[in-house]
Amino acid sequence: MGYLGRLILLLQLLLTTQVARAIDISPDDPNSFKQAASAAAYDMVSYYSGNQSGQIPGKLSGTWWEGGAMFMTLIQYWHWTGDNSYNDITQTGMYWQAGENYDYMPSNYSSYLGNDDQMFWGLAAMTAAELNYPQVDGKPSWLSLAQAVFNTQVPRWDKTSCNGGLHWQIWSYQAGWNQKNAISNGGLFQLAARLARYTNNQTYADWANIIWDWSATTPLLNTKTWDIADSTTFPSGCTDHDDDQWTYNYGTYLMGAVYMYNLTNGDPKWKAGIDGLLGTIWKNFFPQQYGGVMVEPCDAPKNCNRNEILFKGFLSSWLAFTTLLAPYTAGPIIEKLKLTAQAAGKQCTGLSDGKHCGMQWYNPTWDGTDGLEQQMSTLSIFANTLAAFEPQGSGAKNQAPLTSSTGGNSTSDPSAGTGSSADEGLGPHFSPITTADRVGAGVLTFAFATGWIGMAAWMLKER
Ligand SMILES: *[C@@H]1O[C@H](CO)[C@@H](O)[C@H](O)[C@H]1NC(C)=O
Ligand SMILES: *[C@@H]1O[C@H](CO)[C@@H](O)[C@H](O)[C@H]1NC(C)=O
Ligand SMILES: *[C@@H]1O[C@H](CO)[C@@H](O)[C@H](O)[C@H]1NC(C)=O
Ligand SMILES: *[C@@H]1O[C@H](CO)[C@@H](O)[C@H](O)[C@H]1NC(C)=O
Ligand SMILES: *[C@@H]1O[C@H](CO)[C@@H](O)[C@H](O)[C@H]1NC(C)=O
Repeated sequence: MGYLGRLILLLQLLLTTQVARAIDISPDDPNSFKQAASAAAYDMVSYYSGNQSGQIPGKLSGTWWEGGAMFMTLIQYWHWTGDNSYNDITQTGMYWQAGENYDYMPSNYSSYLGNDDQMFWGLAAMTAAELNYPQVDGKPSWLSLAQAVFNTQVPRWDKTSCNGGLHWQIWSYQAGWNQKNAISNGGLFQLAARLARYTNNQTYADWANIIWDWSATTPLLNTKTWDIADSTTFPSGCTDHDDDQWTYNYGTYLMGAVYMYNLTNGDPKWKAGIDGLLGTIWKNFFPQQYGGVMVEPCDAPKNCNRNEILFKGFLSSWLAFTTLLAPYTAGPIIEKLKLTAQAAGKQCTGLSDGKHCGMQWYNPTWDGTDGLEQQMSTLSIFANTLAAFEPQGSGAKNQAPLTSSTGGNSTSDPSAGTGSSADEGLGPHFSPITTADRVGAGVLTFAFATGWIGMAAWMLKER
C-alpha cells in the first residue's frame, strides 16, 4: 500500500471512530452536556418545517400537542445553555398556536383536543415565565398564557362523576371522554402548583390540593404504594384502572408535589409525596436490569408510539428541576440523570451525521429508530442534566424557576382565557345541538352526525 493509500485508510479510520463516539458525555464536564444538547437540538429542529414559508408556525406534521412539548424543551435548552438559535421559531410558534383567545384552544384543532394536549402548551408557557424567557412586545405575557390554560380547564372539573376530576378528552363526543386519566389531572395539578408558587395566589394552591386529594381517592394516585395508574373510567365510579406504567405520569405528579413543597417551605404532606413517588420512579423506570439507566417499558420491544417516545424526556426535565426546588433530593437524582445522559449519548450514532438518537437509552448500539421524538427526549436529558452543575441548597443562587417575588417579570392576568373563549361554558356537559336547533333540521343533524364520524376518524389519525 502506497503512502496515499495509507493516508486514506487513516482518514477513514479517524472518521469512523468519530462517528462511533458520536455524542460523548463526561459526567463532570458541563461543556460536554452543552455540546450534546446542541447536537440533539439541531437534529430535532431539522424535523420541524413550521418556520418555512407556506407552513403553519408551531404545527408539526400529524400532531398538535407535540409542538408545545418541543417548545418547552427548547425553552429549557435556552435556559441551560444560553444558546438562542431557536428563540425565533419558539416565540413565533408559541404565539401562533395560542389561538384566537390566547388559551391554546386554536379553532383549527380545538374540537378534537384532550386536556393533556392543551396542557403541554400551558406548561411550555409556564416554563417560559419561570425562566424569564424573552417575550415578544405587544403579545400577552407567558404567565397569562399559562393562566388562560388553567382558567379554561378548571371549569371542566366534573363533580357529577367520581366526585371530581378532569376527563381525558375535552368533549363528550370524543372517544376517551369516559376516562379520567393521570396526565390530564396530574397536568392541571402541576400547573396549579406552579402558578401558586409564581404568583403566591392562594386560589391556585387550593386547586393543587383539591386535585391531589381527589386523585388520591382513585387509582390515579395510590398514596400507600405510590403507584400511578394511567387511567380510570367514570362509569366504574373511578375504581377500575389501566395500570400501564408511564414515566411522565409519575413525573407530573412529582413536579406538582415539588412546587407545593417549595411553596409551603417543606410541608410534610408534599415531602411524603416526593419521597413516595421517587421510590416508585426508581423501582419502575431505573431498573438494575438496564444498569440503572432510565427506561420506558415500551423501549425494549421498541413498540413505543411517537407520543410515548417523548415521556422519558419529560421525566428527565422534571427530575432536574426537582433537585433545585427540593435540594435534599439532589444526590440520587443527579447520579441517575448523569448515568442516563451518558448512556443515551452512546445510543446517538444514527444516520449520516452519526448523531441521531434512538429510544433505547440503555443500549450502547443505536437501535435503528430515529425521529423528532427521539431527538426531543435526548435533548431534554442532555440539557436539563445541566442542573447538576448548579449550586445546590438553601439560599444558593441558582437557576431555579423564578417567582414574581424573586425576579420573574411575566405579568399576571388572573382572568386570562375567560370571557370571549370559543369554548366558554362548554364543559363536560356541553351538548352541541340545542332542542331549538333540532326543530326541522333533520338534514342538518344528519350532516352534523356524519361530520362527527369524519372527525372521529381524523382524531384517531392525528392528535
Ligand atoms: C427555520 O429554522 C431553522 C432553525 O433555526 C433555520 O436553520 C432555518 O433557516 C429556518 N428556515 C426559515 C425559512 O426561516
Ligand atoms: C389554521 O389553518 C389555517 C389554514 O390552513 C392556517 O392558515 C392557520 O395558520 C392555522 N392556524 C393555526 C393556529 O394553526
Ligand atoms: C424579563 O426580563 C428578561 C431579561 O431578564 C427579558 O428578556 C424579558 O423580555 C423580560 N420580560 C418582560 C415581560 O419584561
Ligand atoms: C425552594 O427552592 C429554592 C430555590 O432553589 C431553594 O433555595 C430552597 O431551598 C427551596 N426550599 C426548600 C424548602 O427546599
Ligand atoms: C387569584 O386567582 C384567582 C383565580 O384565577 C383570581 O380570581 C383572583 O383574582 C386572583 N387574585 C389576585 C390577587 O390576583
